[in-house]
Amino acid sequence: MIMMSSVEYALVHAGRRLEILRGVELAVAAGEIVALTGPSGSGKSSLLALIAGVEHPTAGSIRVGGMELVGRSQDELARLRRSRMGIVFQDFHLIPTLTALENVALPLELSGTPEAMDRARLMLDQVGLRDRADHRPLEMSGGEQQRVAIARAFVARPALILADEPTGNLDLETGGRIMELLFRLARSWHAAMVLVTHNPELADRADRHYRLDGGTLQKMAPRDNPS
Ligand SMILES: Nc1ncnc2c1ncn2[C@@H]1O[C@H](COP(=O)(O)OP(=O)(O)OP(=O)(O)O)[C@@H](O)[C@H]1O
Ligand SMILES: [Mg+2]
Repeated sequence: MIMMSSVEYALVHAGRRLEILRGVELAVAAGEIVALTGPSGSGKSSLLALIAGVEHPTAGSIRVGGMELVGRSQDELARLRRSRMGIVFQDFHLIPTLTALENVALPLELSGTPEAMDRARLMLDQVGLRDRADHRPLEMSGGEQQRVAIARAFVARPALILADEPTGNLDLETGGRIMELLFRLARSWHAAMVLVTHNPELADRADRHYRLDGGTLQKMAPRDNPS
């Protein structure tokens, strides 16, 4: 699903060159869940932005679903994102003027899918928000907003979900329920997922766990369970 090889990512800021990622190699198979941890500023969000085609690597190759991202136009990358990816952010990124239902239907409408509203309604049911369909984001709790964002990410049945600290703005209990939902949907729909999290227990629930530090990606062994 994802194949990153020899990926370098550097930025120039105020005349200084910042090396964010170095020599990143990452392969994620279809349906596989990969957790990504690392200190603040280590480049986790940057790595997701590269996979999403929102940022562009300085060197190396990034393939998603067999398609090379390097050298593609913004339009092609946007189309690829819409057709293959669902993205979940820490701060939800819902459109404030649209209702829950309209937010979920948006990816389908943008891609001209018929019966967008009906499918969005079914998806809202799946995240338990049937009775909040006509609420706008500010008329929902944080956990509800994130469930809407998850419904929007999954509604077009993407092969790949990118989730950047999706529970970072939620209390522990709500966050736990949101993670259950993400894992359940990803597993049941066989979506691959790259999940950025600070929680080592969640990282252990993924199929594989990588840590970013000093710009390089390191595979983590599953933690020993105390017996
Ligand atoms: N547009 C930019 N211009 C300059 N530097 C940037 C820019 N975007 C990110 N950076 C720098 O790149 C580094 C990696 O940022 P990134 O957001 O990927 O980290 P992160 O691992 O997601 O951190 P966090 O856990 O705090 O979310 C940081 O040092 C950040 O300051
Ligand atoms: Mg980040």
